[in-house]
Formats: sequence, structure tokens, C-alpha cells
Amino acid sequence: MKILVSGGCGYIGSHTCVELLNNGYEVVVVDNLCNSKENVIDKIKEITGKNVTFYKGDVCDKEILRKIFNENKIDAVIHFAGLKAVGESVEKPLMYYRNNIDSTLSLCEVMNEYNCKKIIFSSSATVYGDPAKLPITEDMPVGNTTNPYGSSKLYIEGILKDLYISDNSWGITLLRYFNPVGAHQSGLIGEDPNGIPNNLMPYIVKVATGELPCLSIFGDDYDTKDGTGVRDYIHVVDLARGHVKALEKLLSVKGINIYNLGTGNGYSVLEMVNTFSKVNGVDVNYKIVERRAGDIACCYADCSKAFNELGWSAELSLDDMVKSAYNFVLKNKK
Ligand code: NAD
Ligand code: UD1
Repeated sequence: MKILVSGGCGYIGSHTCVELLNNGYEVVVVDNLCNSKENVIDKIKEITGKNVTFYKGDVCDKEILRKIFNENKIDAVIHFAGLKAVGESVEKPLMYYRNNIDSTLSLCEVMNEYNCKKIIFSSSATVYGDPAKLPITEDMPVGNTTNPYGSSKLYIEGILKDLYISDNSWGITLLRYFNPVGAHQSGLIGEDPNGIPNNLMPYIVKVATGELPCLSIFGDDYDTKDGTGVRDYIHVVDLARGHVKALEKLLSVKGINIYNLGTGNGYSVLEMVNTFSKVNGVDVNYKIVERRAGDIACCYADCSKAFNELGWSAELSLDDMVKSAYNFVLKNKK
């Protein structure tokens, strides 16, 4: 089975390539490297001892996609390619809508031309907005996204649902990720954002390594266990394995399916900082500041649907998450 992975050089895509290869799939990656580096392909090969076919190109470009489909018999696509920085999406909404939506449209159109009708799409818990109840189940309402990035995920979900309504020979899986963190245990692949990180874990890591002086904790007056925001952090390797399980099912059935991929546990910002410090034996300097606009108090998943229908659940612990995140950055410090 040959799987096309769009955005396969990125954080979640690279870990998923490793798990696909470890499970006997052949992998073809297309990535324009706008947020990643080509040497990730060598790292994937080093970890797995298997080959990867790489095309440098933009998923919005149907010609490169046709070239890939002409040169490879693709059985299914996992579509990670997309822009994901929330703040940037507010500043450059057209760029976000163009890239995220256009890439999905081009991909599906070319898939149709080649009669390849199986796709897994990277969606996000952000489509739930501020949830009315917890834990979040897949049947809860979506909408009220607070930024163009989140809205692009919501709209793409809608486009893929319409595609299925128009042609139910498609198999479509929407995976709603909660908060992916951590890195592969080899320390060869992981998350290393350019500049000042927006997300909590990469920020904590940069404070721990001394690259940034102090973590700002955005509010300690939420209605949560210690007043700081609560999220469902999931190890990226568990998340990657969830894709392999979703793919197994996708290859055997038609239809549209939606799954939450999280752990079902909510951890507060202070719990994340304290666990990071304890497990890695390093201080993380922090201060409490104002709430961040658009943040919600609490968000965690009910993952029983993925367990019941895919036979998947997260296995790695919070200690594994914080340890592997730090290990990756220490190994790759410039
Ligand atoms: P990432 O930026 O590390 O990876 C995305 C990859 O896609 C990058 O390698 C980038 O170069 C590539 N890319 C972007 N636009 C492209 C295009 N038009 N053509 C070809 N390649 C393109 O991000 P990630 O964290 O690995 O996220 C993967 C997907 O999961 C994204 O769609 C993201 O929105 C979604 N997601 C991520 C998170 C998260 O917290 N990381 C949470 C929910 C959903
Ligand atoms: C954010 C995005 C979400 C996106 C997800 C993954 C917002 C509002 N939401 O989710 O759309 O899908 O990233 O890319 O940006 N925190 C701090 N200090 C920091 C950074 C974060 O206290 O420097 C806190 C936040 O207030 C939050 C928690 O840590 O309570 C997690 O934040 P973050 O990692 O940015 O993820 P989300 O806000 O859940």
C-alpha cells in the first residue's frame, strides 16, 4: 500500500511517516518546505531503515500532484499540509484561506482524476470553539472559531462533508487533534518552531534551554483546578499511531468518519511547567500575566469513539511528553 503524505516533512507528518513505514506502508511525501526542512526525510529514513519518495512542491499546484499520481500508484492520502500559526492567520487571513483551502481542493480534484478516493484530513479541536460541556465528543456542535486558522479547518471539514454527499464512493476521515507535544524518542525529529513560539510546550523548552528568559502564563483566574488553562496534551507519537489505525479502517470502508485524538486527560499550564521541571531536572522561570485573547479555560477530549472504532488509545504519559520534547531540543541545539 502506497500512501501520499502531504506536509510529511512537518512536525506531525514526519512522525506519521515513521509509524506508516514501521507498519509496512510505502510512503510518498510532498512538501513545499515552507515550515520544515528537507533533511527530515533523511531522519525518517535513519529511524526506520526504509525508503521515502520525496517531492518538493506545493499541494496547491495540480501539475506536481498529477506528476506524483502518474509516477506512483497512490492508495490513500494523509493531508497534513497547511499553515497553522493562529496569530499569523489573524494578520494574513487571505494567505491562510488560500493555502489551507486551495491545497485541499487541488488535492481532492487530482485524487478524483486518478480515482483515489481515500483521504485523512488534519483537523483540530479548535473547530469546537468554547465547548458547552466536557469532555468533548465528536457529535458536539462545531463553529464559533475565533481566528482564520480555526475557520479554515472548519470550512475544509464542510467541503469534505459536501464532497462525500456528492459522491459516496469516497472514504473521508477527519481527525480532530487536541494538543500535540513531545518528539520521537530518537531525538531526530520533533518540533522546533522558528522565532518565538506561540504554543506552550515549545515555549517552556526554550525557557529551559535559556533561549528565552521567562514563560508568561496567560491567566491564573480561570475556573480550573489551579486557575491556569487546561488542555488535553497528546504525545505526537501516539497521535501518529492514531493515523495508522484510522488508515487501516479507511482502507476497508467508505463513508465519512470523525475522531477526536487526545488522551482524555486535562492538564493545567502549571502542571505542565512543574512536570517539565521535575522530569527534566531543570528550572522553568515563569510569571503570571493577563489572559490571552481568544483562549478558553478548559478543553479535553472524549476519545472513546477512536477506541471503540479504531482500537486506538494514547499510551504515552505526560512524563514521556515532556522528556522527549526536551531531549529533541537538547540534541538539536544549534
Ligand atoms: P507543520 O507546520 O510542522 O507541518 C505542516 C507541513 O506542511 C510543513 O512541512 C509545511 O512545509 C507543509 N506545507 C504547508 N503548506 C503547504 C503547501 N501548500 N504545500 C506543500 N506543503 C505545505 O505543522 P504540524 O504541527 O505538523 O501540523 C500538521 C497539520 O495538522 C496542519 O494541517 C495543522 O493545521 C494540523 N494541526 C496541528 C496541530 C498542532 O498543534 N501542531 C493541532 C491541530 C491540527
Ligand atoms: C492553540 C490555538 C489552537 C491551535 C493549537 C495548536 C489559540 C487561541 N489556540 O491552542 O487554535 O489548534 O494552538 O496549534 O492560539 N499558554 C501560556 N503561555 C504561553 C503559551 C500558552 O500560558 O506562552 C497557555 C495557554 O493560555 C493555554 C495553554 O497554555 O492555556 C496551551 O496553549 P497553546 O499551546 O497555545 O495551545 P491552545 O491555546 O490550546
